Amino acid sequence: MTIPVHLVDDDRDLLRATAQTLQLAGFDITTFTSGREAIAALDEDFPGVVVSDIRMPGMDGLELFAQIQGLDAEIPVVLVTGHGDIAMAVKAIKDGVYDFVTKPFATDRLIQSVRRAAEKRSLVMENRRLRAAARDVEGDLPLIGQSRAMLRLRDMLRQIADTDVDVLVTGETGTGKEVVATLLHRWSRRAKGHFVALNCGALPEQVIESELFGHEPGAFTGAQKKRIGRIEHSSGGTLFLDEIESMPPESQVRMLRVLEMREVTPLGTNEVRPVDLRVVAAAKVDLGDPAQRGDFREDLYYRLNVVSLAIPPLRERRDDVPLLFGYFAERAAKRFGRDLPQLSAAVSRHLSEHAWPGNVRELSHFAERIVLGMQPEEVSGAGKAAAAEAVPLPERLERFEAEIIRETLRSHGGDVQQSLAALGVPRKTFYDKLQRHGIVRSDYAGKKG
Ligand SMILES: Nc1ncnc2c1ncn2[C@@H]1O[C@H](COP(=O)(O)OP(=O)(O)OP(=O)(O)O)[C@@H](O)[C@H]1O
Ligand SMILES: [Mg+2]
Repeated sequence: MTIPVHLVDDDRDLLRATAQTLQLAGFDITTFTSGREAIAALDEDFPGVVVSDIRMPGMDGLELFAQIQGLDAEIPVVLVTGHGDIAMAVKAIKDGVYDFVTKPFATDRLIQSVRRAAEKRSLVMENRRLRAAARDVEGDLPLIGQSRAMLRLRDMLRQIADTDVDVLVTGETGTGKEVVATLLHRWSRRAKGHFVALNCGALPEQVIESELFGHEPGAFTGAQKKRIGRIEHSSGGTLFLDEIESMPPESQVRMLRVLEMREVTPLGTNEVRPVDLRVVAAAKVDLGDPAQRGDFREDLYYRLNVVSLAIPPLRERRDDVPLLFGYFAERAAKRFGRDLPQLSAAVSRHLSEHAWPGNVRELSHFAERIVLGMQPEEVSGAGKAAAAEAVPLPERLERFEAEIIRETLRSHGGDVQQSLAALGVPRKTFYDKLQRHGIVRSDYAGKKG
């Protein structure tokens, strides 16, 4: 991009000559013969540099500088002056004038000064743009990514967040489906209401039903107290149905009804309660594909799929890998009170060559390990046996634990109850551990072995 330079001088001949010089140096020049005209043509988003003579009738160069400061103190101003103004020059520089060039000047001197000023301005503008983007993407839950797919995704999110349309989010594990669902909620008027999440894959059918629809006392054995269902609880907010592909068939029928009628009937009642509903559902498989859909109802799929957002796997948007890695490493360094480590060639290579089957989640764990100074064996390239010696005990224990959990899930076909019983840990601990190790329960569903 050519940087615009606004050139101000009441001496028209000199103005024309200087304009030519700067044009040849590659700048985009607009000329003004008075400070008043010049200030009128500026605003705070002006991406360039102002070069002005000091001695001018009416508004002089110093006054023009003062007015520009009021508009945007970071627009660089280069002042041009005759001999003998050294004291003034020193004061002006202190006040924030970018540079002083004395007449008659060597053209190189002016060009260099303007070039540096232009670079500085570009940096300022770039920083502002990044900061604005970060603000947009709301501090604590950023959706990072500058790949085309992510830019498009963010655009879509912004467009549909504040509509009441139901959304189906698909993507492999760890691609950011929950992040997207949360943003849809936060960027909508519904942010005042609750964001209510239910993982349809983690609960047995009966629990799902009473969780979703609520129940009256005595609706079924064990239902002692009345329970407000999550659908109702989400009224005015957002209902996030995670792993919707695992919703039991019975519940699917009821859910379809809820989506169509926008009302809910708690178990054990005939009462019909209207709900102000917005559903965001997430699936790891393409429900539009009959082969992947399994026993998921086609009609429910079409009902949910008013708008669908597909988040591509990380390996299909490799441009985002360094960006995400940088973000996670910085966050981890802050959290663990460590310095950001230098990137070794091996780590860089791993970043660009690894396929990231666990997607963004895997990458974030990787970044944390690097910050903690653990050289993962896939990076150290030292081979398994050698690596085992180099790996510190805590990490070996971690890996061992992850392996046991995977093994247990595998042998119970992903069944949570059975795995819990086999491992002898509380449910919450179990889910925490899955999360920490990046283990996805549904990967083991129905595959006993
Ligand atoms: N674009 C992104 N920018 C920053 N963080 C991200 C991004 N995508 C995902 N993450 C982070 O990666 C982790 C996994 O994301 P998330 O839980 O949304 O994935 P998911 O698609 O729901 O995965 P799963 O299917 O396994 O539940 C989270 O810690 C999330 O904050
Ligand atoms: Mg998720």
